[in-house]
Amino acid sequence: PQKIIIDTDPGVDDTMAIYYALESGAFDILGLTTVFGNVETPLATLNALRLLEIAGRTDIPVAQGATRPFAEPYFGAPAHIHGADGQGDLFLPAPSTQAISLSAAQFIVDQIMAQPGEVTLVPLGPLTNIAMALLLEPQIAQAVKQVVLMGGAAFVPGNITPAAEANIFHDAIAAEMVLSAPWDVTMIGLDVTHQVIMSDEELGRYGASAKATSQHISKVLPLYINFTRESRGKPGLYTHDPTTISYLLNPALFEVQPYLVRVETEGFSIGKTWAWPQNVYSPLAAFQVGPEHLVNVVLGADVPAVNAMMLAT
Ligand code: BDR
Ligand code: CA
Repeated sequence: PQKIIIDTDPGVDDTMAIYYALESGAFDILGLTTVFGNVETPLATLNALRLLEIAGRTDIPVAQGATRPFAEPYFGAPAHIHGADGQGDLFLPAPSTQAISLSAAQFIVDQIMAQPGEVTLVPLGPLTNIAMALLLEPQIAQAVKQVVLMGGAAFVPGNITPAAEANIFHDAIAAEMVLSAPWDVTMIGLDVTHQVIMSDEELGRYGASAKATSQHISKVLPLYINFTRESRGKPGLYTHDPTTISYLLNPALFEVQPYLVRVETEGFSIGKTWAWPQNVYSPLAAFQVGPEHLVNVVLGADVPAVNAMMLAT
């Protein structure tokens, strides 16, 4: 199995991604690390613990992460997308387990450095913990297997501003650090996740499954489905975070191109991810970097095959 750490702000589509990874049997999930985004960090931690309890996987540790981005402003968590509780307003009972005492960033560093070349990071929220881990131990850039993150919008508009995708927007400085670091990083942004859409009929299959994980997903989904339907003006759910798991399960289903990716860190376009191919001349020195600084930008997918794989799991 692939060793992964999921960094998450659960979150409805985070929930789908975590359970997809668990049920696939293809991963050794070393831990969940938590961050603000869809909810505040302490609630993200409670949700991570609750999700593991529902799945019967309290053996997987949860490490709590940063509560604020690298710089102000902090925009807070919107209650109308994932629910005030991040779980579709289900207001689940308190978990019976607790987070470990290590910080998310320290947990990430310790795991990667203990198993060089083996650990894949899967960030599904703002990139604060990942950037903090890079600062704590820069050698994780060489020791990590790869980073496969959900975030960004290279050639399509944003979803939280005209420029920015939400995860990048919430900590643009962290995102700039993570996307320009010399490691193997794959960006699964709106370029592809706005194509990987599930229909109401497909989503209905969660409720038809007897698995506790599928049943939980079917309960948290309705609020998120309504939000997406209203913002799209038609039915169909963007499966943002789970697309990272589909990519790890079968990268051959995706179209990927290498780009230099830089992030706007201030102003009206804060959080905008610019992608620049290396064979195009630019007078800006920042655009002349080695291949280790390039980002694998995912641009397309075989959507029927991706959805079939996810629903089968
Ligand atoms: C991202 O933002 C969050 O709302 C989702 O969980 C996903 O990680 C999509 O822009
Ligand atoms: Ca998320």
